[in-house]
Amino acid sequence: MRTVRFGIIGCGLMGREFASAAARWCHLPEMDVRPEIVAVCDTSDAMLAWFRQHFDSVKQVTSDYRDILANPDVEAVYCAVPHNLHQQFYCDIIRAGKHMMGEKPFGIDLPANRAIMECIAEHPGVFVRCSSEYPFIPAMQRLCRMVESGECGEIIEVNTGFLHSSDMDPEKPINWKRMARFNGEYGCLGDLGMHPCHVPFRAGWVPKNVRAILSKLVTERPDGKGGTAPCETWDNGTMFCETLDPRTGKLFPWTIKTQRIAPGEKDTWYCEVLGMRKSVGYNSKNTDSIRIMDYSQKGEQAWQHIDMGHETAFKSITGGIFEFGFSDAVLQMWAAFLYEMEHGQAPSLFTGCVTPEETALSHRLFTAALESHRNQSTVPVDAGLQ
Ligand SMILES: NC(=O)c1ccc[n+]([C@@H]2O[C@H](COP(=O)([O-])OP(=O)(O)OC[C@H]3O[C@@H](n4cnc5c(N)ncnc54)[C@H](O)[C@@H]3O)[C@@H](O)[C@H]2O)c1
Repeated sequence: MRTVRFGIIGCGLMGREFASAAARWCHLPEMDVRPEIVAVCDTSDAMLAWFRQHFDSVKQVTSDYRDILANPDVEAVYCAVPHNLHQQFYCDIIRAGKHMMGEKPFGIDLPANRAIMECIAEHPGVFVRCSSEYPFIPAMQRLCRMVESGECGEIIEVNTGFLHSSDMDPEKPINWKRMARFNGEYGCLGDLGMHPCHVPFRAGWVPKNVRAILSKLVTERPDGKGGTAPCETWDNGTMFCETLDPRTGKLFPWTIKTQRIAPGEKDTWYCEVLGMRKSVGYNSKNTDSIRIMDYSQKGEQAWQHIDMGHETAFKSITGGIFEFGFSDAVLQMWAAFLYEMEHGQAPSLFTGCVTPEETALSHRLFTAALESHRNQSTVPVDAGLQ
């Protein structure tokens, strides 16, 4: 078993999810490579204290990320920091020759993403991917295999989305994800958009143009110090894209919803593909279940609901009948990152993490979406590589 020694920069919500996944790597009996967390960096003492308490393997604790980059024991870095820091931190990590899992949106805006892409091109020996865990849910993997095989036939339409209700309460104090200087002009598009784009992009479906409608529903929030602060970012966004399926050369409509104010939706990720032979849908509200409708033999058009249990892409010790959860998806995503880094390619099309090129496409889409909303017009998406 080869060990890859990791540094984590940004030890908040996602940094700790990775550490927890690394701590139960024994869950994956067939992996021949494992992560070990040896260094952590955060500007918050509370976050660092959690790592000190739980990880004997951590030898370096710092508030300056450059210390991690100078550490020869660190082979790879997971960087999970606010979006305004992505460009500088990611470029410095890559220039230091460390393999990197970055977080979405992979740059606060299109110029930041372009700078990161240039840096990656200048360092071809560095393995770089972006985090996105939902496609590793077994029911989604089943949907992905159907997409890969082409069994749905000609695509009629695709609907994907990520819906939260975490900002329904206007009295919820503001945090960095609602401030444009940390989160960027994209707002909910940058924050949530990679999740509903990952599978369609990997399928090769390319948005040609977009008409977007964005909403700012809560314009100020408590600042946590007794006053109020402007809430500048987009809360909700719907993108309607004319999309090319390279398999048929035909265009189909793809609707993407990213919403932080979606009543009744705590953390709902969904993907629906309607085809001329079969349709298939997944919704995280019913996380084990996939629905499939097969009318290829011209019978009744009736949904079939199938429970998937724990049929994971990377074999797990959990019994096949048991339910799958968010932290399981994070563990599977990290298995995908390490597997591809170690073996040079993912086991299959949909068992790889988001590539830098896919983040670049997402930036071109989100930037076009901002323009579309501003001008109330349909805007072309430059689909070519940069
Ligand atoms: N893949 C997912 O499902 C998912 C979910 C949530 C967030 N994210 C992404 O992860 C990234 C981080 O989000 P989060 O929710 O973990 O945020 P968070 O606020 O919980 O954590 C960010 C951490 O970065 C630290 N930090 C800030 N400035 C720093 C600096 N200069 N040096 C070192 N550390 C610094 C903060 O103290 C904090 O602990 C974002 O890009 C976000 O979009 C991804």
